Amino acid sequence: MSDTFFLTTPIYYVNDKPHIGHAYTTILADVLARYHRNTGQETFFLTGLDEHGQKVQQAAEKRGVDPMRHCDEMAPRFTDLWKRLHISHDDFIRTTEERHKKVVQGILQKVYAAGDIYEDEYEGLYSVSEERFITEKESESGEFRDIKKLNEKNYFFKMSKYQQTLIDHIELNPKFIQTEHRRNEILGFLRRPLNDLCISRPKSRLNWGIELPFDSDYVTYVWFDALINYITAPGFGSDDESFAKWWPASYHLIGKDILTTHTVYWPTMLMSAGIELPMSIFAHGWWLMGESKISKSLGNVINPMDLIDDYGVDPVRYYLMREMVLGQDANFTMESFLKRYNSDLANDFGNLLSRVSTLMKKNYDGRIPEPGELTSGETKVQSDGENLVKVVNEKIESMRINEAIEETMQYIRSVNKYMEDNKPWKLVKEDKVAAGRVLYTAGEALRIGAVLLSPIMPSRTAVLLDVLNVQNIGLEWGGLTPGNQLKDHEPLFPRVQ
Ligand code: MSP
Repeated sequence: MSDTFFLTTPIYYVNDKPHIGHAYTTILADVLARYHRNTGQETFFLTGLDEHGQKVQQAAEKRGVDPMRHCDEMAPRFTDLWKRLHISHDDFIRTTEERHKKVVQGILQKVYAAGDIYEDEYEGLYSVSEERFITEKESESGEFRDIKKLNEKNYFFKMSKYQQTLIDHIELNPKFIQTEHRRNEILGFLRRPLNDLCISRPKSRLNWGIELPFDSDYVTYVWFDALINYITAPGFGSDDESFAKWWPASYHLIGKDILTTHTVYWPTMLMSAGIELPMSIFAHGWWLMGESKISKSLGNVINPMDLIDDYGVDPVRYYLMREMVLGQDANFTMESFLKRYNSDLANDFGNLLSRVSTLMKKNYDGRIPEPGELTSGETKVQSDGENLVKVVNEKIESMRINEAIEETMQYIRSVNKYMEDNKPWKLVKEDKVAAGRVLYTAGEALRIGAVLLSPIMPSRTAVLLDVLNVQNIGLEWGGLTPGNQLKDHEPLFPRVQ
């Protein structure tokens, strides 16, 4: 394991307010960042905004404001949401920032000097919604909207020159594109000849972009600009030490809709500029409602703010992480959200805390009892807990977050069962020491569970640990301190109807 971990989200278009799709990738990155920080790895978590290009220019025009002002007004909608979702990013990049423009122009100059940029006449179909030129075949697929016929002189990047090198890299590095399904998809795509990439837009058509350093009549194509954010932020060209520390990125997290730009455009751009490739690009699936993707243009968006207002941040984070198998699509329904909330959070997790704390309050002056001499029942809870820590680590390393959560919840359920089998509420009347042992064990298991779930639910697990008066958030068994006074609390996850 390397001692630094750098992960990124896509930078989001500021054409509208964020929805659950944007929130999902950002929460996913946050959860991974928190897990990695907890294991002691120095972590850099980057997110930000994609502010140039036709989509943004059109959104600004529609509102009748200048594009820069539009971006400045939209940016807080994202940063406010990240605050509310407890996103712990280390940097927030906006592509209109000076630091970024400089790097984009520097890279363009480098690629130009390498002889990888040429001028050509282009006639073809252009999809405004995807911000790229498309083939006849693609235009018939129905997946592209706002298609226009264009005839322009433009600058092209010799992407085709790197086709074989890219194929070799993908084949040699099985983790470079994840999941395997996506890797095969891209290898399939690369079996056909790769076109060069049009990387400019004439200012006469679109002026909201970064000017080409070698022709002031043009701005840079928005994807060529946006992808570079991943090296601007860690310090490419401005802070060599920082850049060497963080690059190559451990993960670019993306949705499957932006796979080609990240696994074909981006690595070939880096090859031309002589920069190392990221270690891994991981594409997740879509959140669907019924059969269709949740998206602004379909108008079926779920506003994450509404869910947070009604149920709290942590249940929303929990649901999104628990329900989606990374790499596959998942269905968002209120029914499954409420089911998860009530069964996993209210009944299993929250209830265990209530039972433990109520009994300690009633019978042990509200203090953590002594663990005493363990019997086979306790040894089992302890060894299962120790095993769980290993399993969760492995699951996170292999990006199986939903399974890591499920393992933890199964453990919590087994501890509830241990309580039922040992009935400390009865036992305390005959043998207070034995009942104390059961409660200590259940409380300690709950502590371990809460620490393991803290990247998913940072605020409610912090409440739980505070109620148990825990200072030790290590994962070694025995972190609960006998004699510590419990604090009063509301139900951790009140049941909802
Ligand atoms: N600006 C580009 C990314 C540039 S990165 C150098 C972009 N922005 S976006 O705002 O349109 O979308 C960003 C991300 O949100 C994508 O990864 C996309 O997959 C994700 N989602 C948007 N809707 C989604 C769902 N319904 N479900 C899951 N994620 C989805 O593309």
